[in-house]
Amino acid sequence: MTLKITWYGHACFLIETDTAKLLVDPFISGNPLAPVQADDVKTDYILVSHGHGDHVGDTIEIAKRTGAMVISNFEIQNWLVNQGIKNVHPQHIGGGFNYPWGRVKLTIAHHGSALPDGSYGGNPCGFLFYIQGKKIYHACDTGLFFDMKLIGEEGIDLAILPIGDNFTMGPDDALRAVKLIEPKQVVPVHYDTFDMIKQDPHAWAANVEKETSAKVTVMKPGDVLEL
Ligand code: NI
Ligand code: MN
Repeated sequence: MTLKITWYGHACFLIETDTAKLLVDPFISGNPLAPVQADDVKTDYILVSHGHGDHVGDTIEIAKRTGAMVISNFEIQNWLVNQGIKNVHPQHIGGGFNYPWGRVKLTIAHHGSALPDGSYGGNPCGFLFYIQGKKIYHACDTGLFFDMKLIGEEGIDLAILPIGDNFTMGPDDALRAVKLIEPKQVVPVHYDTFDMIKQDPHAWAANVEKETSAKVTVMKPGDVLEL
């Protein structure tokens, strides 16, 4: 009944539903702050938001070891097939699909998506999950965009937003994102992994809770949030 959501650092989450485990953007072996070893992760699905190395991460190794189905945009899916990954499901921006555990729709994201070897990775995306009556929006890597208001119209229980600045929204724009989305809860991510994206998530949380009605949970890598 309860969704168990574990942060593996950076943009990587394990979402455990009643029937399946979903791993988002598995950047684990390259992340000094990751609380797990990539070899130990168990999952049934892997979702990849865009082609950058800090999101594709250990996708190929984990997919080969576990047989997990990889969900990503069509271009990344083609690249994965060329790397020998057979269990894939391509989607694209604006499109949702009903899996046995729930639905996921790909949202726009303003960012890049070149793959680690320079291959074309299509357009980057965020994920809107509909699982067990809950709606979770993981913005993944993006700048602020006004269409976040449309995403918010769906009634978001949990928004996962980057606050690191430099490569994505920083704290000020992430606060504006919360005002557009109006989620019940927020978790900040994509900060502190590298020197260029150092932030104070607690100061951000205090600011968001002062200016909006959203509840902010600052997680440490390895922490679990139940929804
Ligand atoms: Ni990126
Ligand atoms: Mn990134």
